[in-house]
Amino acid sequence: MLMQTRTEAPPADPVARRRTFAIISHPDAGKTTLTEKLLLFGGAIQLAGEVKAKRNRVSTRSDWMGIEKERGISVVTSVMTFEYGDCVFNLLDTPGHEDFSEDTYRTLTAVDSAVMVIDAAKGIEARTRKLFEVCRLRDIPIVTFVNKLDRESRDPFDILDEIEKTLALDAAPVTWPIGSGRNFSGTYELGMNRVRRLDAADDGGTVPVSGPEDPLFDELLTENGAADAWREEVELAQGGLKAFDLDAFREGHLTPVFFGSALRNFGVRDLIDGLAKVAPAPRGQDADKRRVEPSEARMTGFVFKIQANMDPNHRDRIAFMRVCSGKLNRGMKARLVRTGKPISLSAPQFFFAQDRAIADEAYAGDVVGIPNHGTLRIGDTLTEGEEIVFRGVPSFAPEILRRIKLTDAMKAKKLKEALQQMGEEGVVQVFVPYDGSQAIVGVVGALQLDVLKERLQAEYGLPVDYEMSRFTVCRWVTSDSETDLDKFIDSHNSAMARDLDGAPVFMATTAFSLRYEEERYPSVSFTDVKDYQ
Ligand code: G4P
Repeated sequence: MLMQTRTEAPPADPVARRRTFAIISHPDAGKTTLTEKLLLFGGAIQLAGEVKAKRNRVSTRSDWMGIEKERGISVVTSVMTFEYGDCVFNLLDTPGHEDFSEDTYRTLTAVDSAVMVIDAAKGIEARTRKLFEVCRLRDIPIVTFVNKLDRESRDPFDILDEIEKTLALDAAPVTWPIGSGRNFSGTYELGMNRVRRLDAADDGGTVPVSGPEDPLFDELLTENGAADAWREEVELAQGGLKAFDLDAFREGHLTPVFFGSALRNFGVRDLIDGLAKVAPAPRGQDADKRRVEPSEARMTGFVFKIQANMDPNHRDRIAFMRVCSGKLNRGMKARLVRTGKPISLSAPQFFFAQDRAIADEAYAGDVVGIPNHGTLRIGDTLTEGEEIVFRGVPSFAPEILRRIKLTDAMKAKKLKEALQQMGEEGVVQVFVPYDGSQAIVGVVGALQLDVLKERLQAEYGLPVDYEMSRFTVCRWVTSDSETDLDKFIDSHNSAMARDLDGAPVFMATTAFSLRYEEERYPSVSFTDVKDYQ
């Protein structure tokens, strides 16, 4: 189906050229492979396979740990910038393992669109669905890539139907596969009378056809009756399925669907061309007091990710900031709204597949890395002076709570410092009980605990263990009535803690006791999501 294009602004406008996106998928659907191929098109890397050395992988766990050890790789792949055609693409990487889902949610606050990769044999899988829900909450438009068509696949109608039913999202195919598995021989661009042949080298050009009746399809689909069956399918697809509609896509109600094989580098060019044409340029972002438009002259941005730098001895970190408006110039001074202090952006960095480079200037939609020694936290807003805070970099109530056991009591102060830093980086959440007892760490997934332990040992020389905490659930507590909140806190002192920002957190031993308190204190809100401030 013809993808209508709409010229948003003259191409010279640097913001209109930007496409900032992430790839969402279930593990193994082909996100890494697709990333490599997209970067190849952008000329960001020379050879496929450089993004992530995945050979000899034993498990996701060791894969992650290994990568984390070579910190350089994970820093570099957090964001990848490349140019293709008239566009500058910023591809934000999200961790594959669901134990790091918090990191993924935060990353999704910094994108304007997402590519959903689906394995053609498996359809929509659990993690894809979850990530999709996050995109929906944020009205992020989704472009779908149905991958692995070179293997035995499900019927395309089946896949589209599943998208519509399970995600409540209209699916508009842009291309249509010609055969599948061993018989996969290319794609037909619906309504455009163009065929991309699998046997064309390196996802090369398309060939014109007169329409589905073209004899080329008899050549490509040689099995008895296959060409005619395929023609019927296409007729059904063109007549019965949704046509692409830019507004519905931008509002998050419809997804254009591309079919291909990342491994064979097939269909990737259609996908990237599609992103260039229809994915939105940087959009306005909501701050506490107003919405900030990308076209505004003054620079604003927010930090959505912090990553420890390559050299653990120097404790320097990279804060990843999405520029929301204006122009960031190297050397400029910005205001860190949380503290009111100025921060000098002397060496902001751009990231390419294996390289980084000093960014002399960056525009709305760009993601720059700001080296710092702990000044910046997740959720921080930087401006040219204005007192605004961007909303929506969330923190989730952890599902696992553990007390930290330090084997060397002399190192308590160092542990406090280290936990503060790990908390600020978003590795774990740290809760300091009101009663002065040992800090409690909270995580969404158990792997985060392993990472914390390893990093405390490797970077701070702190051997720690975990103890079960008597608490199993926690909630941030707020109230419109300060008196009511104080009353609640006073009468639950031994179950109260402060998070990194000093916000009060109630910890309950069971979900039942949490519900009991909720009922007893109706004027107090118990929330499981908190915006970083
Ligand atoms: P992920 O990042 O989403 O977890 O997926 P990844 O790209 O690592 O792909 C998972 C597996 O699927 C890999 O094989 C990869 O080669 C394969 N794959 C990706 N795209 C396609 C495709 O279009 N067609 C086919 N047939 N396979 C595809 P693996 O053997 O598990 O890993 P590896 O050892 O080859 O890296």
